[in-house]
Amino acid sequence: MKILVYGMGAIGSVFAARLSTVHEVVGICRGEHYKVIKDRGLKLSGETQGTFIIKVAESLDDVGEEYFDLVLVTTKSYDLRKSLKKIKESISFSHILAIQNGLNTAEILTEEIRNADILVGVTYNAATLEAPGIVKHAYKGKTYIASLRGSEFQMRLASVLSDVGLPSEVPQDIFKIIWEKAAVNCVINPLTAILYEKNKIIVELWDELLPIIESIIDEIIEAAKIFGVNLPQKECLIEKVKKVSIYTGENISSMLQDLQKGKRTEIDALNCYVANVLRRKGHNETVNWLLCTIIKELEKKSIKS
Ligand code: PAF
Repeated sequence: MKILVYGMGAIGSVFAARLSTVHEVVGICRGEHYKVIKDRGLKLSGETQGTFIIKVAESLDDVGEEYFDLVLVTTKSYDLRKSLKKIKESISFSHILAIQNGLNTAEILTEEIRNADILVGVTYNAATLEAPGIVKHAYKGKTYIASLRGSEFQMRLASVLSDVGLPSEVPQDIFKIIWEKAAVNCVINPLTAILYEKNKIIVELWDELLPIIESIIDEIIEAAKIFGVNLPQKECLIEKVKKVSIYTGENISSMLQDLQKGKRTEIDALNCYVANVLRRKGHNETVNWLLCTIIKELEKKSIKS
């Protein structure tokens, strides 16, 4: 298969590296990360190991009018719409899979891409971009994918990903999976970013953090219901948060990685999204709103400094 990976951050790099072992992959990345991969290859440690020689370009203008069987979009959630606009005007493709943290990927994909099979993905892989061209694949978790227009390709793609060592499946209800993963991210990401610690801090401070974790989850269950999504019981979601914090304990959450690099975070697609859904229903004073506000303040400070 000919695959374009658009957005080779930590997770995009893991997918590009693994897919490149069997498929023809072109990766889009920028700056030093691009230069190092072009000159020396992409180096992975942890769950994926080795140096991967991948064809990279800094922009789609350097790719030319090529045809791709699959475009995998692993940009940050706030870059998704802009990226899709660029992709659809620059290249031809038959399937597009977007994997982001957050709650608005499916909506943006459906609005922007009308003439191709659109697939949304959720991944429990955890990875850290340690330096340009150097990525640590900290945890190999499952990836869930589903075609929003119900194509057969979803099953084939799940096998393609599983065959390169990225265990994947097509769930019965992708929206439930999206909200479940958002619940995990709405707890781990802002709390690790505020505490400035690796994910394992969540279990280390479990008893102290439990009241806030419970409130975040209660609000997510309420927000999901507004979209007709019935999440599992609160206790199951809390257990899931604990498990992911243990499995990915050595990872630096993507939100903390962003703050450390002085970059914008994905808070808008996570806690702010949940808080805004509840605000529209008159529920203004939420813990998700508080976390949204705090992370935005931290963003301002880290982007400035
Ligand atoms: O955003 C992240 O960092 C990841 O989704 C996760 C699973 C919380 C691991 O760090």
